[in-house]
Amino acid sequence: MMIARFPTIDEWADHVADQFVALLNAKPNARLCLPTGNTPLPVYERVAAAVRDRRVSFCEAEVFLLDEFGGVPADAAGRCDVMLRRGLIDHVDLPEDRYHRIDTHAGDVDASARAYDARLHPAFDLTILGIGANGHIGMNEPGAPVDSPTRRVDLAQETMDGAERYFGGTHRPTWGITVGVKPLLASREVWLLATGVSKAPVLQRLATEPVGPPLPASYLHVHPNCTLFADAAALPGRATLEVAT
Ligand code: GLP
Repeated sequence: MMIARFPTIDEWADHVADQFVALLNAKPNARLCLPTGNTPLPVYERVAAAVRDRRVSFCEAEVFLLDEFGGVPADAAGRCDVMLRRGLIDHVDLPEDRYHRIDTHAGDVDASARAYDARLHPAFDLTILGIGANGHIGMNEPGAPVDSPTRRVDLAQETMDGAERYFGGTHRPTWGITVGVKPLLASREVWLLATGVSKAPVLQRLATEPVGPPLPASYLHVHPNCTLFADAAALPGRATLEVAT
């Protein structure tokens, strides 16, 4: 895992957005798997500005949602689809049929997850991930196997507690559908984003614990082209991140 560490969140966001724009300009039809949560928002803001300034275009790209909460109304403010639209999709020139959402309202949720998984080929060109306080990536919670496909998952207690803030306290999802660890690791390139002091403990775990199911983000250590982009608050006094063996 490569590490890119920035003194401030603005410098972090500028750099990640520049990298995003460069990647999309180099491969306009890139298949992108994108996260929600609060972490990527400053990056999305800058990427949207680049589209407005005609420095980049999404018109040939494909965007796949990383995960989605189940058991809440489709238009609830904290749904991943709603958050990604609000943060990025509504502000860029991505054709509607190139935006792939996850259907959690289907009668057969497992079949819906399998159908989404089947659309993830060929592999993503770029996957961007946030990280949960418990080390989850997407909704791959602790215990997720390295070869897990896209599937319905029960959320960990702390993920449920944390998710309430996305919904303004009106909903408390207990499950979701997530792109699995297997298709995430198949991505040509992965960027793990982490900012703020609240992410420092889990990044410390990432630096010291062995690769395995208790810390799903640790699987990224075995990916051949993964970069952690962090600000100094999330990665205090640390220039490198070693893999524990
Ligand atoms: C959420 C999402 C993840 C997200 C992570 C961090 O539960 N399922 O995809 O990356 O937790 O969220 P935040 O960026 O708001 O800290």
